[in-house]
Amino acid sequence: MIDAISFRNGTFRYLDQRYLPLQELHVETRDHREAIEAIKTLAVRGAPLIGASAGYTVVLGVNEYQGDKAGFPAYFRQLIEDVNASRPTAVNLFFATKKMEAVYEANYDADSLEALKARMEAEAHKIYNDEVENCDRIARHGVEQLKQDCAGILKTRKLNVLTHCNTGTLACCGIGTALGVIRLAYEEGLIERVITSESRPLLQGLRLTAWELEHDGIPFASISDSSSAILMQRGMIDFAVTGADRITANGDTANKIGTFAHAISAKYHNLPFYIAAPVSTIDITMKEGTEIPIEERNADELRKIFGTQVAMPTTPVVNYAFDVTPGTLIRGIITEKKAVVGNYETGLRELFS
Ligand code: MRU
Repeated sequence: MIDAISFRNGTFRYLDQRYLPLQELHVETRDHREAIEAIKTLAVRGAPLIGASAGYTVVLGVNEYQGDKAGFPAYFRQLIEDVNASRPTAVNLFFATKKMEAVYEANYDADSLEALKARMEAEAHKIYNDEVENCDRIARHGVEQLKQDCAGILKTRKLNVLTHCNTGTLACCGIGTALGVIRLAYEEGLIERVITSESRPLLQGLRLTAWELEHDGIPFASISDSSSAILMQRGMIDFAVTGADRITANGDTANKIGTFAHAISAKYHNLPFYIAAPVSTIDITMKEGTEIPIEERNADELRKIFGTQVAMPTTPVVNYAFDVTPGTLIRGIITEKKAVVGNYETGLRELFS
């Protein structure tokens, strides 16, 4: 099993994903600032894993506190603010810090600092474990939905699936969201081959998803991001499933840049396009995708390829890390509670009742 992150004896351990698949480098830290840096630099990444890492980062910060109880609230507020500032789009990060804040608010008055620290660590482990379980449930709902939607094709042959970015163990703690659906569908004999798009500029599809599929022995081929339309035109893709970083009340979905273009191509070719994500990725407070903050990353991510300069250093660049796929292009949003199809306004809201 891939060990993406763990927390033991006060130490946060993570697999530094920037070096995969060429090098498997595990890093250990007890310093919350280093953990924040790991989130910012995408050493740890993927919405649910960012959430779980944020929980552990808060635990590191709290453990570092040496002052008296009276000084703790101001320290804690600053800590939460610093963790929240690490990445803006994946709502799982804020979901996790809100959970840690709730533990603080409910117990600060009655608990000693030592007891509060222990409660916070327990909460962070719960965030992690919940995400692991969510993945299994998402996979089950996803496979059931696929069996319904692709019943015609499945009578004669297996399916070819497109996925974008990385949504596996490296992104989620458990078997993954979209990749979890694919893994279970493969186990059940529904999948012929996975197409993983490279996910420029940081190549999560080419480097990370391919690495996970290789690890599991699932047949796959990698493509450049701009190739999905021709593969669909040639009947080489039957459906697509990706993860999400934030889903608004109407089903609009922020995910890795390039997702929207795949979804448009899928619509044009009349192929189902699914989002697989835990309920923690749904931001029911936002009505529609235009409200989602979209992370813009530094220009050198594009001007250089893994440290090698490929463009003029002065080339002006627009480097959005995510785009927003309108809910109208999405066949279904598969969560751990159920697969929501049809009216997202009511279907997604019901998940919170
Ligand atoms: O910038 P990243 O690598 O954190 O972006 C990750 C994605 O866009 C994933 O598709 C998304 O977080 C879903 S992970 C299950």
